[in-house]
Amino acid sequence: MIKAVIFDLDGVIVSTDEFHFQAWMQLAKRLQIPFNREMNERLRGVSRYESLSIILENATNAYSEEEKQEFLDEKNAVYIELLHELSEADILPGVEATLAKLREKEIKIAIGSSSRNTPRILEYIGMSDTFDAVADGNDITKSKPDPEVFLLAAKKLGIAPEECLVVEDAYAGVEAAKAAGMKSLAVGSAIDSPDADYRAKDLSQVNIIELLA
Ligand code: BG6
Ligand code: MG
Repeated sequence: MIKAVIFDLDGVIVSTDEFHFQAWMQLAKRLQIPFNREMNERLRGVSRYESLSIILENATNAYSEEEKQEFLDEKNAVYIELLHELSEADILPGVEATLAKLREKEIKIAIGSSSRNTPRILEYIGMSDTFDAVADGNDITKSKPDPEVFLLAAKKLGIAPEECLVVEDAYAGVEAAKAAGMKSLAVGSAIDSPDADYRAKDLSQVNIIELLA
């Protein structure tokens, strides 16, 4: 029996995944490193630092840790600038209805995101007080596919991992849910993930209550 649903943020609750892509693309272009949407799929769910490491796999130059830190700051500055455009209009289809159904059934809801920008994003979309718990990139040392962020979210809720369902748009996130001993609903880019228990194009295409039994 599922007693809590843990939502990834970027690409599940809000369309910030596109801003991440645009910000990385800007950096990759400046550094003349090949980068495209297909490569971007590998960045979903993983930390800022690991995302940069993946992009730099295609670099011809070697960069020092200091330079890498500058690149991370540069990417994040562009990303934060793009976030200024964010509003409730960027909440993804089906999210608000899904949260309302879960509330009605007294199912706990949490965020489990690798993003250190989570508090800022929740504020922009008017959801700072929506969730019973938030576990994000500021609280963890290992990013998805490690289960740390989901286990922390469950702990904050006081719910056992096997009683949690995770909603994810990243392969790494679905893998993390499995490693945490949780069920998962894969949406968007993760829809073909072999590890997922349930699949839907987005949250408007599924009645989440049917997945809780
Ligand atoms: C995840 C995104 O939610 O957060 C990743 O899917 C991103 O693409 C990661 O790298 C870290 O985000 P931030 O906001 O801390 O740079
Ligand atoms: Mg995501």
